[in-house]
Amino acid sequence: MRRFDFLQISYMNPVNLNSADQANLGLARAHHWDAFHQAMRPRLGATAKFTREEPLAVKTTIRLGGSARLYAEPGSEEDMRLLLNAAAAAGIAVLPLGRGSNLIVPDAGVEALVISMAHENWAKFEARPDGAVWVGAGLRLKNLCGLAAKAGLTGFEFLEGIPGNVGGALRMNAGAMGGWMFDVVEAVQLITASGESRTLERAAMHVDYRHCAELHDAIALGALLRPSAHADTEAVGRQIDVYKKKRQESQPREPSAGCIFKNPPGNSAGRLIDQSGLKGERVGDAEVSPIHANFMVNRGAATSADLIELVRRVRARVRVAQGVELEPEVLLYGQQWKDVL
Ligand code: EPU
Repeated sequence: MRRFDFLQISYMNPVNLNSADQANLGLARAHHWDAFHQAMRPRLGATAKFTREEPLAVKTTIRLGGSARLYAEPGSEEDMRLLLNAAAAAGIAVLPLGRGSNLIVPDAGVEALVISMAHENWAKFEARPDGAVWVGAGLRLKNLCGLAAKAGLTGFEFLEGIPGNVGGALRMNAGAMGGWMFDVVEAVQLITASGESRTLERAAMHVDYRHCAELHDAIALGALLRPSAHADTEAVGRQIDVYKKKRQESQPREPSAGCIFKNPPGNSAGRLIDQSGLKGERVGDAEVSPIHANFMVNRGAATSADLIELVRRVRARVRVAQGVELEPEVLLYGQQWKDVL
């Protein structure tokens, strides 16, 4: 396999470099991303997407941020393995991308290979004879609910309003309406950073509020789900409508990343922010939603810098007014919140 020398380039922010040196370093980095791209493209299946500088804002629900130095939509497990092995050999960080609903992409983009499960091969829904359902990581939760309702399966209705896919919902243990993704999971198939595919039983996994330890450094490929019971399609549809109505009344429709902060134990981040008088607070085009205070909406041209500044401001106000330190729930792509707050 061709050798890559990414590791020889420091990705730390260079200090004491004059502008000509910085420009040269930028060119050298671009050259190495290009080299990786050119070496890998012919090795991937014909239907795989693999691009340089892919804009990510349109792939997120809040619609802001820069591009991915490298972006792939693998069409098979083999594509996935090739990409992961090559990235590991080249010292390139890999970031999985779900439906981008819980994600803030930095304005400068991400120095990484972003892997998305958007290829149709990952959107499977297969009802098994024993009543379980196999779903691919790329299947949208909305479609999962619709297909389950059609098959007369109940227990997935709470997922309907979560604007994510199965992979992201597993990674974040997404939840709504009192239910969590892992409530309905029996087993997860994942691929490790070294390209090894494994299936883990639910009981062997460490799952918590908005967190799944096993998917920290691995990518979910699919899951075996267990519906709670069989019901008639109309009854499932009615339950979905109840949840939909509740969500539409209590959550904003403008572009957002869902709830920005985790709920502190026994409390509600939305209520705390609301009680601190922060609804409508704005930095640039990033605004604390007047409808639900734990949502920050993009009023049109918000940048990631605006959003981060608003997060900082809200945390500071809630700390002073309520004595509670809120922790972000959304991911800051390729970075740690503690490094920017
Ligand atoms: N509240 C206010 N003001 C606000 C918002 C909420 O006073 O601006 C009050 C509500 O009146 C209610 C309480 O806070 O008494 C809780 O609000 P809500 O029922 O909207 O639930 P939440 O805890 O804010 C959670 C999840 C949401 C999920 C909803 C519905 C978290 C951080 N949020 O919100 O998940 O959709 O329940 O089940 O766990 C997400 O994770 O991105 C998300 C949106």
